[in-house]
Amino acid sequence: MSVQHFDFNKDYGTPLSRSTEMVSLEIDGQTVVVPAGTSVMRAASEMGIQIPKLCATDNLEAFGSCRICAVEIEGRRGTPASCTTPVESGMKVTTQNARLAKLRRNIMELYISDHPLDCLTCPANGNCELQDMAGAVGLREVRYGFDGENHLDAPTDSSNPYFSFDASKCIVCSRCVRACEEVQGTFALTISGRGFESKVSAGMDQPFMDSDCVSCGACVQACPTSTLMEKAVIDQGQPEHSVVTTCAYCGVGCSFKAEMKGSELIRMVPYKGGEANMGHSCVKGRFAFGYATHKDRVTKPMVRDSIDQPWKEVSWDEAFNFAAAKLKGIQQKFGRESIGGITSSRCTNEETYLVQKLIRAGFGNNNTDTCARVCHSPTGFGLKTTLGESAGTQTFESVLYADAVMVIGANPTDAHPVFGSLLKKRLRQGAKLIVADPRSTDLVRSPHIQAQQHLKLLPGTNVALINALAHVVITEGLEDKAFVESRTDGDTYMRWREFISDVRHSPEETAQITGVPAEQMREAARIYAAAENAAIYYGLGVTEHSQGSTMVMGIANLAMATGNIGRKGVGVNPLRGQNNVQGSCDMGSFPHELPGYQHVSDDAVRARFEQVWGVELDNEPGLRIPNMFNAALDGTFKGMYVQGEDIAQSDPNTAHVEAALRSLECLVVQDIFLNETAKFAHVFLPGSSFLEKDGTFTNAERRINRVRKVMPPLAGLADWEATMGLANALGYPMNYSHPSEIMDEIAQLTPTFTGVSYERLDELGSIQWPCNEAAPNGTPTMHVEQFPIGKARFAITEYVATEERSNRRFPLLLTTGRILSQYNVGAQTRRTANQSWHDEDILELHPVDALDRGISDGDMVAISSRVGETVLHARVSERMQPGVVYTTFHHPNSGANVVTTDNSDWATNCPEYKVTAVQVTKVTGESNWQQQFRQFDEKQREFLAGAKRKEHV
Ligand code: SF4
Ligand code: SF4
Ligand code: SF4
Ligand code: FES
Repeated sequence: MSVQHFDFNKDYGTPLSRSTEMVSLEIDGQTVVVPAGTSVMRAASEMGIQIPKLCATDNLEAFGSCRICAVEIEGRRGTPASCTTPVESGMKVTTQNARLAKLRRNIMELYISDHPLDCLTCPANGNCELQDMAGAVGLREVRYGFDGENHLDAPTDSSNPYFSFDASKCIVCSRCVRACEEVQGTFALTISGRGFESKVSAGMDQPFMDSDCVSCGACVQACPTSTLMEKAVIDQGQPEHSVVTTCAYCGVGCSFKAEMKGSELIRMVPYKGGEANMGHSCVKGRFAFGYATHKDRVTKPMVRDSIDQPWKEVSWDEAFNFAAAKLKGIQQKFGRESIGGITSSRCTNEETYLVQKLIRAGFGNNNTDTCARVCHSPTGFGLKTTLGESAGTQTFESVLYADAVMVIGANPTDAHPVFGSLLKKRLRQGAKLIVADPRSTDLVRSPHIQAQQHLKLLPGTNVALINALAHVVITEGLEDKAFVESRTDGDTYMRWREFISDVRHSPEETAQITGVPAEQMREAARIYAAAENAAIYYGLGVTEHSQGSTMVMGIANLAMATGNIGRKGVGVNPLRGQNNVQGSCDMGSFPHELPGYQHVSDDAVRARFEQVWGVELDNEPGLRIPNMFNAALDGTFKGMYVQGEDIAQSDPNTAHVEAALRSLECLVVQDIFLNETAKFAHVFLPGSSFLEKDGTFTNAERRINRVRKVMPPLAGLADWEATMGLANALGYPMNYSHPSEIMDEIAQLTPTFTGVSYERLDELGSIQWPCNEAAPNGTPTMHVEQFPIGKARFAITEYVATEERSNRRFPLLLTTGRILSQYNVGAQTRRTANQSWHDEDILELHPVDALDRGISDGDMVAISSRVGETVLHARVSERMQPGVVYTTFHHPNSGANVVTTDNSDWATNCPEYKVTAVQVTKVTGESNWQQQFRQFDEKQREFLAGAKRKEHV
C-alpha cells in the first residue's frame, strides 16, 4: 500500500500497518476500512478523529501507559486504550462521551499536578503536546495542588551541546526511552524508580554526554513536552515556517524539514515523508548545520597571480574574466588537453552536470573526474561488469526483509547512521549478521546485537575471503541452481564455477592469507546461502584496495550464485559515502562517460549531446585525477577547476598532491571555506551551502531527492550560477534561469532519467532511477525480471596480494575510516559543536603492538610509511587486531594521507587507502610535514585575512 496519501506533518499515534488484509469497523458511527493490525487510535486518526494521547506517537510501537486515549468498544468491558487495541472486523468504537471526557480529565489532572505551570515562559509554548492535550480534554483546574511529591525541583542536564534535558518537565511517558531503543537502537536511556519516584536517566544516571548517547535526536523528537528540547529553540524561540530538503552529509540522503524564523534556520527536523530515513536522523544532519553560517565562510570572489601573494577580493565578473583569461591562455600555450576539472559529490546533480558540461563543451576535452575516483569507482566498474548497472540494487527499507545480512568493509553505525539504525532494528528482530572487517566495529557487538560471525580478516585480503565463501557455496551444493540457470550467462557461470571450485580457494587453503579460521568462513557462507533472503552491504573497506573492483565482482558473483538479486531483502548494496556521490557518477563526472554512464567513444551518444550542447565533443576519454596530478608534475597539465572537493586533504600521498597543485598556473577553487586545496589556488569562487540553492541529490539507493533553497546564497550566487558565469566568460554560453531547467536537459539526454522532473519529484516525493517509460514512478528494486545486459555475468576473481605488504621496516598495516560525529575532511563538522566528540584524529593500536613499542594511551606516536610520516596521539584498543592500526582523517593537520601511498585499484585507480605498511614509534613532537603544514597554513590565513581587511578600509 502506498503511503503517499498520508500527511507526514500529522502524528497518527501508532505506526502504519503494512498488512494487505483489510478490516472494516465503525468509529463514532462512521465506517472505516484499514489494514489489519492498525490500532483503533490510528484508524480514528486516519478518519480525522483525534483521540487524545500522550505516550503514543506514530514512529513507536504503542506502549499503553498513560491511558488518556481510552475509548469504549461495544460488547467490551471497561475503557480500553485505543493505542494498544488493534481493529477488528465489525467493531463499534465510541471515542467521545461524558464518561470518557471525565476519565481523560482526571488522568490529565494527575499529570499536570506534577508539572511546572510556566507555559507562558516555556520554550515549547504553542508547540507542546501536553498543553494541547490539556486543552483537548478540557482541563480547567487542578484539584490536587502542586505541593505533593513531584519532580518540580529536578535539575536540568545541559551537557549535550545541542539539546537540554529539563527533568522538572518530564511526564515519564517513556517515549524518549522507546525512541532510543526502537528507532535509534542505542539503548542509552532508562526509566528508573517506581510511581512518583520514576524518572528518565541517561546511562547509569549520568549526564547525556557521559552516557552512550550518540546525539541522534530521536528522543528530542519524541518528547511531547519541553523536557528534551533543542537549545536553539530555547534560545531563539519556536520556528515559524519550514521547507522540506535533503541532508548534505552522507549518502543515506535523509529528508529534513528546515524549520525557520524569517531567514534564520532554527532547527532541522527529520521528515517522516522522507523514504530514505522515515523520520530518523543522526547527529550530523539533525544538529551540525551551524557551519553554513560560520564566520569562516568566504563570501567574496578572490584572485591572485601566485600562491605566494595575498588574495584580492574582486567582483564575480572580474573573477570569471580573470579565470577565463588564464585558462584560455594556458590552452593556447600548452594545448587543449592542458586543463581539466573536478566535479563535486557534495554539490547537486544539476551543478555537477554543469561542471562536466563546461569541461567537455567549454574546455573541449574530457578531463573531468570526481571524488568517486577515490571511493566508489570500483563499484561502478564491478557492478556494471557483472550486473550491468553501476548502482546498488535495493531501497534501504529492503533490509527489513533480509534474513541474513553480510556487512563487508563498512561501519554503518558511524558512517551511514540512519541506515545503521534500520539494520540494527532488523537484527533485533532476528536476522543473522556476518561482519567482515579487520576491526571490531560497533555492529559486531552492541546492545541486543551480536554478529553470528565476525570475520576479522587482515587488510588487503578481501578477495581471498569472498572467493573462499563462494567456494563453500559451490562445493557444498548451496547455490540457487534455478536462478543461475534462468538469470545468468551460462558460459561465464561455467568458467567461474570451475575457477572457484579449485581447492586453492577453499577456506582451509586461504585461512593463512585472510587470518580467518576456515570453519568461520564455512559457517558464514552457510548462513548467507541458507537464508531465504540474504543481503550484502559494503563500504570503502571493499573498494579502496588494489583489488577493489575484483572484490565488487566477487560480491556480485556470490549474490548471483545464491539467487540473492531482484527482490526485497536481498541484493548488493554499496553504502555510498558522500551525499551526492551516486549523483556525481550518474551525471557524467568520469572522463570516459557522459551522463548516464554513456561512453564518450559511442558516436550515436555523442551526436545526441553535440546536438543539444551545440559543440563537437572529444571521443577520447580524458584524464583521471591521479593522471592529472602526474601530468601536472610532467608539465603538460597546467589549469584546473575544482568545485567542492578538497583534494589536497582527501587524496593519498599528500606530498605528491601538493607538488602537483603547486605546479599549476591556474587553479580555480569553488568552495564555502578556504579549504586545503584553496590554499594552492589562484581564483577562489565562494560556494553556496545546501541551504542556499535548489537542486537534487541522489543517495545510495539511487533515490533522487529535492534540495530546496531556504535562504539566499551568502555570496550572492549559487554554485550552478557561478559555473554558468565561468562558462560564459570562457565563451561557451550557458543560460539557465532555474536548476529545474538543468534537470530537464539531464532528462532529455540520460535514458535512466527520462521521467525525472521537478514536477514529478514534488508529486512523488522522491524517485529512484531508472525512471522512464518502462518505470514511470522509478525503480525501487533493480534487476527484478532481467538485467540491463540481459543475463548477469560471472567474473573471474583471482586473488592477487597487494604490493603494500608489511615488512621488517614497516611491520604494521594502517587502515583508515570515519567516525560518527565528523564528516570526511571535516570542513563542515569541524565548524560545529560536533568537535566536542572528536577534536583530533587518534591512532588506535592493539595492546600487544603498544606494549612492544612502549606506547601508552595518549602518547604521541609517529606513523611512518614509505611515502611520509605524521604524528598523532595513540589509543590502545582491543578493537584492533595485532599488526593492524587505524585512524580517521577528519583533521587536516593529522596528515593521515601524508602516509597513504598512491597504490591503487587495477581497474579504476581508486587509491588503496585501506592498506598502508607503517611503523609506529613513540615521539615527542610533530613531524616535518606537520611543521611545514602549520607554516603554510598560517601564511595562507594571513593572505585571506588581508583580503578581508581591505573590504573594510
Ligand atoms: S539522542 Fe539518540 S542516542 Fe541519545 S538518548 Fe536520545 S535517542 Fe538515544
Ligand atoms: S523526557 Fe519527554 S519523552 Fe521522555 S519520558 Fe519525559 S516527557 Fe516523556
Ligand atoms: S544519516 Fe547521513 S543523510 Fe542522514 S542525517 Fe546523518 S549524515 Fe545526514
Ligand atoms: S496514548 Fe494510549 S495509553 Fe498513552
